[in-house]
This record gives sequence, C-alpha cells and structure tokens, in this order.
Amino acid sequence: MNVAKRTFDAVIVGAGGAGLRAALQLSEAGLKTAVLTKVFPTRSHTVAAQGGVAASLGNSTEDNWHWHMYDTVKGSDWLGDQDAIEFMVRKANEVVVELEHYGMPFDRTDNGKIYQRPFGGHSMNYGQAPVMRSCAAADRTGHAMLHALYQRNVRANTQFFVEWMALDLIRNSEGDVVGVTAIEMETGEVSIFHAKATIFATGGAGRIYYSSTNAFINTGDGVGMAARAGIPLEDMEFWQFHPTGVAGAGVLITEGVRGEGGILRNASGERFMERYAPNLKDLASRDVVSRSMVTEINEGRGCGPDKDHVLLDITHLSPETILKRLPGIREISIQFAGVDPIKAPIPVVPTCHYQMGGIPTNYKGQVVVPKDGNPNVPVSGFYAAGECACASVHGANRLGTNSLLDLLVFGKSAGETVVEDFKSGNLTLKPLPADAADVSLARINRLETQKGGTEVHDVRLDMQRTMQKHAGVFRFNDLLVEGVEKIKEVAEQAKTTQIGDKSKVWNTARTEALELDNLIEVAKATMISAEARKESRGAHVRDDAPDTAENPNGRDDKNWLKHTLWYSEGNRLDYKPVNLKPLSDDVDPIALAKRTY
Ligand code: FUM
Repeated sequence: MNVAKRTFDAVIVGAGGAGLRAALQLSEAGLKTAVLTKVFPTRSHTVAAQGGVAASLGNSTEDNWHWHMYDTVKGSDWLGDQDAIEFMVRKANEVVVELEHYGMPFDRTDNGKIYQRPFGGHSMNYGQAPVMRSCAAADRTGHAMLHALYQRNVRANTQFFVEWMALDLIRNSEGDVVGVTAIEMETGEVSIFHAKATIFATGGAGRIYYSSTNAFINTGDGVGMAARAGIPLEDMEFWQFHPTGVAGAGVLITEGVRGEGGILRNASGERFMERYAPNLKDLASRDVVSRSMVTEINEGRGCGPDKDHVLLDITHLSPETILKRLPGIREISIQFAGVDPIKAPIPVVPTCHYQMGGIPTNYKGQVVVPKDGNPNVPVSGFYAAGECACASVHGANRLGTNSLLDLLVFGKSAGETVVEDFKSGNLTLKPLPADAADVSLARINRLETQKGGTEVHDVRLDMQRTMQKHAGVFRFNDLLVEGVEKIKEVAEQAKTTQIGDKSKVWNTARTEALELDNLIEVAKATMISAEARKESRGAHVRDDAPDTAENPNGRDDKNWLKHTLWYSEGNRLDYKPVNLKPLSDDVDPIALAKRTY
C-alpha cells in the first residue's frame, strides 16, 4: 500500500475540549498544527458534557481555590497527585474567564456574572456545605465550549483532518515519539503524520462497558496506541460510574439536576442519601452516591416492576427553572425514559462514565515513564491531555465538573509546554524509522486476509459483558480473578477478528475492528490492575477489603498508597509513588483522612 507522508510542527489526535485547547495554544503561537479527528470537532464527546466546569469564581457563594483543592484531593481518596491538583485548581478561573472572552455563552446571574451551580463532592468550609462552583451554560456546557474553541481554532488557522483515525504511535529506536500513522476513513488510505510534537487528546474508553454514558466513538484510541507502543497505563482500575444514567438506555442525566435541587428516592419514596451521606446527601461524591443506589437496589428497595432502578425527582422544582436550567435533561427524559420530569421522576441507574486513569503525564502535559530509577521521565516528543491522560488529578474518583476543567487546564498546559520546547530548540524533527508504517499496514493487511476468525461485534459484546459483570460498581475477589482469565480469552479472540466488507471507501466494519484493538488494551489494563489492588479506594471497592479501624473505608495506605502502572507486554504491573506534596512550598499538603460526606 502506498503511504503518503505529511509533516507538521505538531500533530494532535482528538478534537474534543483538550485537543482543541492544545491546538489553539500552538496555532496562535504560529506552529504548523494538524488535528486528526474521527468526527467533526463539534461532535466530539465533550459535546455531551452537561452540568458545567469547576472554578472557584465565588460568584454566588463564597469560594476559593484552597477549598477546591481540598475537595479534589479528598474526592480522589488521596490517590491524586497534589502538585497537579494545585496546578489545576489555581488555573481554573483563568481558563474559564478565557473561554468567556472567546465567546462561550455561559448562563448569567442576575448581576451579569457567570452562573454557577452546586455539584457532587464540591463543598465550602472543608466539607460543611455545598458550594456553587460549577460554571454552566444551561445543561449544554460541553456543547457551548466546543463551539467556542472550534471557532477560535478556525481563526488561528489550525488544520483539521476530519474523519481520520489515528492508528499507531511512531517511536524511533531511542523511544522518542516522532508522529503517528492514520487512516482517512473516506478513502481507506494510510498516511504518516511526521511531527516534532505529538499530543494525544483522544478522550475516554467508556465503551469497554456494556452500559455507558459514552459515545460510540469513545474507544480509547490514544490509550490503546500508547499501550501497544510500550507506554505503561496508570491507575486503570479506577472507573467512574455516574449515578444517573437513564435506566435501560445509559444516557447521561447531569448531576446538575441534583445541583438544582433534584432528590434521589427509592421505592418507598424515601430520600435515601440522607442515610449514607448525612452532610452532602444527594450531592455526595459520585462513587458514594452510585454505591448507595446499588445497595438500595440490591436490598430490594429499587423501583419499577423489576426493582432495578431508583428515581430522580425534580417535580418540586418550578417548570420555569427546569425549562431554563435543565432543558436538555427534559428532552432526554422524554425521549429515552418516556417521562416529563416536570410531572414525574426520572428512572436512573449508575452507568459507566469516566476513566480516572490513562497515559501517565505530569502537570505540564508531558508523557512520563519510569527510567533508570526515576518513575517520571518525559518521553521526548510525546504529550497527552484530557480523559486519555492521567495527570493525575482525579486519583481514585473524579469530582463532577473537574473533567471539563482538566481538559482546559492540561490541554492549554500541554500546548504551552510544546511551544516552550519548540522555542528553546528542544523540539526538532527527528528522522522517521524506516519501518514507521509497518505495524499499521500489518494490522490492516491482517483484516484483509483473515479467514475463519471471530466477528468484531461478538468479541466486543463479550468484552463489554465481562467488564460489566467482573469490574462494576462493587468488586468481588472471585469475580475479579475469573475476570482476568476471561478478558485474556477475549483478547485472544480479538487477534483473529474478520470483516466481510473489504472495500476501502467508508468501511465502518474495518474502523470498528481497529477500534476494538484499542478497547481490548483498556479492558485488559482495567481488569488486571483491579484484581491486583487489594484494597478499597474511591471507585474501587472490594468485598474483601471492608471498613476496619486499621483501614477506614477499606483503604490501606500502608500498602496501597501508590499508582498502578500496567504494561501491555506480558500484562506486567509496576507501581510508583503518589505525590503528596503540593506544587508550591507555601501550600500545606492535604493530610490523609477517612473520607466521609
Ligand atoms: O453530570 C454531569 O453533568 C457530568 C459532569 C462531569 O462528568 O463532570
């Protein structure tokens, strides 16, 4: 196959919030920047973000970045790196105001400031009461954000390669990253994108689970490519289940609904969160709320004929509030649940929403790996930001609205680092290895010639059911052990997928087969890392690591206050320390404590 070569200063894979924010930084600095994206930029999954972006603007309630930092460290169950967390929360106001200046249509308070609503796990006075920290554009914040960032990029002359799928990372013999291979979906042609800097901003991989709020495009492409190229994946055992997916459909109902006053009720109408989180109640951290809901269902207090969901009630809010602040939610409820939330509560269940782990990075957006005894050595030419990256600011559990903040702060930061490296002469165009496209061509060739193999949709379904059953909201030792064997079997089946359609033009069967390769890496990383972590922390709660006096909530800081690193080759595990030291010398670390809401 003929392989064309294109050369840029920087290539960015992914055009969601992180990719667009990074691209803007580069293009405005005059770097020749390419953005590869499977879908039109404003259809990237950031478009589905609803409730807001966190920043301690303090427009409606008192707030400051110290409280935001405290909430984020506590929300992470102390697995988040405190240098990166301090960096993120201190940059929050700047990146949000910047967006406002780009024309993002935030809702407004009566005195014209950016409207902010409460969100789960965000509190004031160190946990005493909910704080209004989530800056919102109704319940379509991600949609508004993508449009503002895309338009700004068009102005800055960013070059978009729309409906292109990146295939593999290209590393030279030194391990430096020198670009990616990619396939143009319209023609089936493979190209090399040769660049001084490669930034991954490919989003999450929620499609490893059967029930997910994630779009079909969320197949962990960047994470899979990095893993296949020898980069370890960090903390992949930690997956967030959003409490309120529409029962039976999985579509997201924003936490902003509870921020506006929504209440979760069980079959007898009880506001059950009062029992599990007496202070923050329905606005406790997501992992806590999801587990409480599943406990209600498991103990027979679920709703509906099968007692398999709970209800999210906003019938006590005025129709005007619902129509003004939550118009998208009303539409989703009517379309997917057949319920008008002005008149009746919405049936909801916890649904896979977000990966806390990913490609290891520092707060500058550089991808880091262990080398010569140092756990965090930057890989030359390689950067990552947003959900595919692990900075690590979310640790074992992310707070709602910190994802949009993460992608803005670290998208910008990765862009700034590349510009600095470029200006200082640290980034040069290193030669491509002679075999730069060979791995990708071999993958495509295998699909062309595979006979008597497995069907992509069967393998994908097997993977999704395995993940849902063996690594869900609650985790059980025997299921995890069995899950490791099952996912390895599924991974073997994925090696022989076959496609009936061999055409080149718009071959979606081939795209799905290539995506499956990435999903499988993520699924293996998740199951193997989860089985190995013998404690409960954040979203990873095991039956054999219960709450004890020695290990509150089952968290074992003595043995497990460390990040997991999973390597695809040999499914090898390694660990590295959590950074408990903030970035600035004059900021006190947030001391370890039992997590309660
Ligand atoms: O509930 C939501 O609107 C989701 C926000 C988030 O994941 O940060």
